[in-house]
Amino acid sequence: MPRLQIIIASTRPGRVGLPVADWFRARALAHGEFDLEVVDLAELNLPFMDEPNHPRLRQYTKQHTKDWSARVAAADAFVFVMPEYNFGFNAPLKNAIDYLNQEWAYKPVGFVSYGGVAAGTRAVQMIKQVITTLKMTPLFEAVSIPFVRQFFDENDRFQANEIMEQAATAMLDELQRLERALRPLRREPAAPEATR
Ligand SMILES: Cc1cc2nc3c(=O)[nH]c(=O)nc-3n(C[C@H](O)[C@H](O)[C@H](O)COP(=O)(O)O)c2cc1C
Repeated sequence: MPRLQIIIASTRPGRVGLPVADWFRARALAHGEFDLEVVDLAELNLPFMDEPNHPRLRQYTKQHTKDWSARVAAADAFVFVMPEYNFGFNAPLKNAIDYLNQEWAYKPVGFVSYGGVAAGTRAVQMIKQVITTLKMTPLFEAVSIPFVRQFFDENDRFQANEIMEQAATAMLDELQRLERALRPLRREPAAPEATR
């Protein structure tokens, strides 16, 4: 089965990203079409980008980069569980993305975003510009959670509604289709670099 990496973008103590990711992981497990791996950026604890060489060269000098490279290279698809901070996506997610280059290429990305009135959608729109630069394919299908706090029960567990459940299924179905379609490109040698 293809490997789906679920990346928890928020690193804040008390973040809602963790229970939201717990829900999505259970949802993806029930979907049954992916091997799942959860990457918690708080646990990964990457320093601010500290490699001397451009990541496209893959000449990594730090063990944390080599480890991160191996994990991302082994994934076939991603779901970013991501908050919206100041109408954008959060800095730890950008840092984790910037560390690598080819490891991300030709892999689809789904988004579970959350926040206030905009449900994190402004952060999602912003990150598309970044990830397409790395030849990732963002999905249209997404789980967008508005006023995320209202979906927590008294035990601080996230309780998705029917709309979110349906959106998660649609996103996972599409992720599966795109992962399969992009697979041949991942097997080919990388195309020559375009001017940046
Ligand atoms: C630095 C910061 C900026 C925020 N900016 C936004 C925002 O632009 N839009 C929004 O909907 N919510 C915003 N929020 C509220 C977050 O949606 C809310 O705090 C959410 O719980 C953050 O996710 P997390 O708990 O997983 O870190 C912001 C929160 C923080 C901490």
